[in-house]
Amino acid sequence: MTNIENFLKELKAYWVANDIPNVTETNARFLRDLVKIKWAKNLLEVGMANGYSTINFAIEIQKNGGKITTIEFSPDSVAKAKANFEAVKLDWIIDIRCGNALDILPSLGEKYDFIFIDAMKKRYKDFFILTWDKLESGWIMILDDVIKFRHKMESFYEYMEEIGLEYNLLPIDEDDWVIMIVKD
Ligand SMILES: C[S@@+](CC[C@H](N)C(=O)[O-])C[C@H]1O[C@@H](n2cnc3c(N)ncnc32)[C@H](O)[C@@H]1O
Repeated sequence: MTNIENFLKELKAYWVANDIPNVTETNARFLRDLVKIKWAKNLLEVGMANGYSTINFAIEIQKNGGKITTIEFSPDSVAKAKANFEAVKLDWIIDIRCGNALDILPSLGEKYDFIFIDAMKKRYKDFFILTWDKLESGWIMILDDVIKFRHKMESFYEYMEEIGLEYNLLPIDEDDWVIMIVKD
């Protein structure tokens, strides 16, 4: 196992012990495989926390010669994530935007080939609306924790129904189901 993978294992153990809601290890592996299979190069993450999912993405994105933009509104989490990114020497491919994603997303002028949504569940409909046009055709959006917190995201499910957009509901982990949408 490489140093980065060891570092990630230690971070994960610490965060599990301290109840920090990162993606599970199984989900992290799935997300990394998707980035690998698709050869993604420009990834947008909404909801970074201390950067566990971001580091997992960055390991693969670095191999693809790409970069990550990630948004988080907790200054404390941003400070910890920055230190973690520097520790694994992946900070140079990660652009952290500190603030409310609802304010930041409209100002992002780029298109992305992979979008990962993992912030406040009751705002998933808004995050979807603010990011959908930024996703390239043929590429992937993943929304995390869509069953455990389904009760907080009814407006998102209703919106999917309303616009008739098909999606895959994937039981990646008992504790961590995701929605995967592949854009036509
Ligand atoms: C579930 S955690 C993210 C976990 C991370 N993706 C991982 O797996 O390592 C959700 C994070 O989203 C942040 N967040 C929630 N709503 C937000 C918003 N509107 N704008 C920016 N950050 C937000 C929270 O502060 C929290 O750190």
